[in-house]
Amino acid sequence: MKYKTLHLKSANVYLQKNSLMVYITRRERFSAAHKLARKDWSEEKNYEVFGKCSNPNWHGHNYVLHVTVKGSPEPSTGFVVDLSALGDIIKQYVIQFVDHKNLNIDVDFLKDTMTSTENIAIAIWNQLVKPVAELGAELHSVKLQETENNYVEYFGE
Ligand code: NI
Repeated sequence: MKYKTLHLKSANVYLQKNSLMVYITRRERFSAAHKLARKDWSEEKNYEVFGKCSNPNWHGHNYVLHVTVKGSPEPSTGFVVDLSALGDIIKQYVIQFVDHKNLNIDVDFLKDTMTSTENIAIAIWNQLVKPVAELGAELHSVKLQETENNYVEYFGE
């Protein structure tokens, strides 16, 4: 009787382990120009609201992008996803379009968007959600760092 209980317990532990969710993050970086300003506001009003980011002749940031996906490790590899494949997807769907570009002018998926860090993170989520699913994982979050002091996170909500 004792043995049976023990056996059942270890079987439960095994089942739980099989369904464990692991979160895995890939970092990529890009450098880009942008400006935060409304055309219907004066230069003074834009400076008041957006500060230095409203500079009429643009300015740049070195962005750091953290893409977190989740899933259960594949038994044969122990991987949730192949991290270099995830890196390739981020480059293909995001980095190639934004790196060394003007985010306000050059990027189709940011068209008509105020290029705040918040809005860029949402747009990056929309670019990645499908290709990450096709890779066999689920997109969990997009974290975008504009400066060392500020970052935003978007969870698709
Ligand atoms: Ni800025």
